[in-house]
Parts: sequence; C-alpha cells; structure tokens
Amino acid sequence: MTFPVSRAGLALLACLVATPANAQSGDQPLSAFAKAKAESLLRDHLPCLGCHTLAGEGGKIGPDLTTVRERRSAAYIAAMIADPQATVPGSVMPRTEMPAATRDLISRYLASRPGTAVAEPSIPRPPSPVASPADGPALYARWCAACHGERGGGDGPNAASLRVKPAAHASREAMSTRPDDSLYDTIAAGGTVMNRSPRMPAFGATLSPAEIRALVRHIRTLCRCEGPGWSRPPAPGGR
Ligand code: HEC
Ligand code: HEC
Repeated sequence: MTFPVSRAGLALLACLVATPANAQSGDQPLSAFAKAKAESLLRDHLPCLGCHTLAGEGGKIGPDLTTVRERRSAAYIAAMIADPQATVPGSVMPRTEMPAATRDLISRYLASRPGTAVAEPSIPRPPSPVASPADGPALYARWCAACHGERGGGDGPNAASLRVKPAAHASREAMSTRPDDSLYDTIAAGGTVMNRSPRMPAFGATLSPAEIRALVRHIRTLCRCEGPGWSRPPAPGGR
C-alpha cells in the first residue's frame, strides 16, 4: 500500500548519495576528495553512526568502526555492508540501500582509515530472531528498543550516543499527529528520506511489509493513540 512511496524515497536517497562512477577503483589509495566525501556521507546521510562509533562519535550497538581494518579484510567489510544478514546471520544490522559506487567508497574508506578505537560495543545483543512477522512487540524489542527504549520512551541504552533523540513512540501527543503511512515510510525508508535524522536506519530492505505494519501497530499500542482523523479510514457503519 504505502510501499511505492518508500521506493520513491529510496530512489531519492540513491540520488542524494550517488558518487560519480569514475570515482575510485582498484586498490589505489583514496584521494583527499574521496575521503572527505565518505566522511560527509557517514556524518550526514547514512545511518551507520547510529549504531557504530567512528573517530569517537556515534552509537554503541555495533563494533567501533575506527579500527575495523585491524580485524576484518576489505572483502569482509564490503560484504557486511552489501548484505549484513548473509554475512552475520541473525545480525541486527539492517541492509542500507545505496548505489554500488557509494557502497564501494564507504567500504574502501573503512578498510583504509587509520585510527584508534575508543569504545567497545556496550549494548547487549537483542533477543534472537522473531518467529512471527505479526509479532510487533518481539520485532520492536529486537530491532528498535536499543534506541527507542523497550517501552518506547525514546530512552534506549543507545539513545545517549545519538545527536538527535530517538522519537518517543509512547508519547500520545507526538504520535497522534503522525498518520500510519508516515510511520510506515519512516521505518521503511529511514530518517534521511523523511527529512529526519539520518541515524534512524531504513528497514525496508531487511523487514517485510507485514513486519513493518506490525511495528506500526505496536507503536499505536505504545502511545495508546491513533493517527489524525483525516488519515484514518471512516469507522465501519459511519457516514
Ligand atoms: C541498527 C544498527 C546498525 C546499523 C544502522 C549499521 N550497523 Fe554495522 N553492525 C551492526 C552490528 C550489531 C554489527 C556486528 C555484527 C553483529 O553481531 O550483528 C555490525 C557490523 C558491521 C561491520 C563489521 C565490523 C566488525 O568488526 O566485524 C561493518 C564493517 C559495519 N557493520 C559497517 C556498517 C556500515 C558502513 C553501516 C552503514 C551503511 C552500518 N554498519 C550500519 C549494527 C549496525
Ligand atoms: C540507531 C538508532 C535507531 C534505531 C535502531 C531505530 N531508530 Fe527510529 N529513530 C531514531 C532517531 C534518532 C529518530 C529521530 C529522528 C528525528 O526526529 O530526526 C527516529 C525516529 C523514528 C520514527 C519517526 C517518528 C516520528 O516522529 O515521526 C519512527 C516511526 C521510528 N523511528 C521507528 C523505528 C522503528 C519501528 C525501529 C525498529 C524497526 C527503529 N525506529 C529503530 C533512531 C533509531
């Protein structure tokens, strides 16, 4: 239903972060321009630092990326970014859609960047995979609670590491102004596309539409509220 909007959103993100095809290739070191471009993408457009620390800034759900090159090969880094679930089955890292050239740039930047780690991941691994795509509470505990808090208070253990506070899904005041479609699109397409913090990841390439709908329903139980009247279908029997 709302998926076409999300696809459009993802296409927009693709334009935003597109890199010229001729940018870099092979094993040549990255130019100063390419490094600056990778840094700006990570800082302002991609969700990576919502979960990972880089050069002292960022979240603590995943390993510090500052020293990832000491632990992982360039091929592993590229594979993790291209398809996290296939690389680490059961990972909570969602797949971020981006043009191949952008993915290549970010992979090569991380595989070559010098630096010293300052933080170890400190957020405990979430509950294991969710059995039913309709189980909103379990999906939320697994994919969302580290940032948004178990009860949707916007106060998960990772919240303090984020530049923009995660939305409080338990807030009736805030959530009753959001149509279900806008919640769906933010979950599917991520913060950047919805003009919100890029540290809110896009889950549309990782969770199914049924799972995203279950999450929207769960947000409605957390806020004990509905979207604005204009956004809701007429009540059965109403005129
Ligand atoms: C929702 C949180 C989340 C987001 C967003 C995220 N990651 Fe991850 N990432 C993880 C976790 C957790 C791991 C560790 C693997 C595991 O145990 O699931 C990981 C692992 C990795 C690794 C391997 C690190 C190692 O030491 O093994 C790389 C590289 C990586 N992520 C890069 C990225 C990049 C680049 C982005 C943005 C495009 C990104 N991640 C977005 C959570 C996330
Ligand atoms: C890495 C941290 C992180 C994770 C994980 C995360 N979010 Fe978010 N989320 C954020 C941040 C930060 C914002 C606030 C963006 C803003 O207001 O600019 C946000 C905003 C949102 C919004 C927009 C609310 C509004 O005000 O309209 C929704 C909906 C949302 N998140 C749902 C989810 C769901 C569902 C999950 C799990 C599938 C999830 N988020 C996982 C960080 C996260």
